[in-house]
Amino acid sequence: MRQVASGVFLITTSLDDRLHATTATAFLPLSAEPPLILVCLHRDSDTHRALTQTARFGVNVLAENQASLSARFAAKTGDRYRFEDLPRFSGPNGVTFLSRCAAHIEVETTASTAGGDHTIFIGRVTWSQVDPHATPLVYHRRAYHRLAPLAEPAAGSDAEGLGRGLSGAA
Ligand SMILES: Cc1cc2nc3c(=O)[nH]c(=O)nc-3n(C[C@H](O)[C@H](O)[C@H](O)COP(=O)(O)O)c2cc1C
Repeated sequence: MRQVASGVFLITTSLDDRLHATTATAFLPLSAEPPLILVCLHRDSDTHRALTQTARFGVNVLAENQASLSARFAAKTGDRYRFEDLPRFSGPNGVTFLSRCAAHIEVETTASTAGGDHTIFIGRVTWSQVDPHATPLVYHRRAYHRLAPLAEPAAGSDAEGLGRGLSGAA
């Protein structure tokens, strides 16, 4: 699994007036019509427990400058359960989000199913917003990375010639 590169997400939800946030990479867009996503959380996680009792949650897509937030909400110590120093806002349906992420997705849970020691939570997207200037954080081989575009093949290079040859042969 270390070779799987993924985005990094903070899953947020509130239960009994207490905000929960946890770091997750197990997030996937699932369906466009209707708009569905899925998130997998370990059954021992506090956020898992909260998600089984709440109707809505938030997916905060971390930006490349937010690796410290990922580390903070993956640990069980320190300022893990404090939010005062973090700018936050409410989505249209009351879900709390952390500000300045690359994107925010508000979700209404529609189904959940066991997947080994995790639960797969499936939800309908009820609202979302994207910061077009932000770049998402990437996690790979237990380290954080930023995206870098592949170089385009230079005009007249071998790669371009090979592509022309193949299309000409078709
Ligand atoms: C980069 C990264 C990705 C993680 N992805 C997941 C995940 O997809 N699902 C999960 O249950 N835990 C994941 N974890 C572990 C949780 O963040 C961690 O167990 C956390 O302490 C759980 O917090 P909670 O008990 O308050 O919910 C990940 C941790 C890191 C550092």
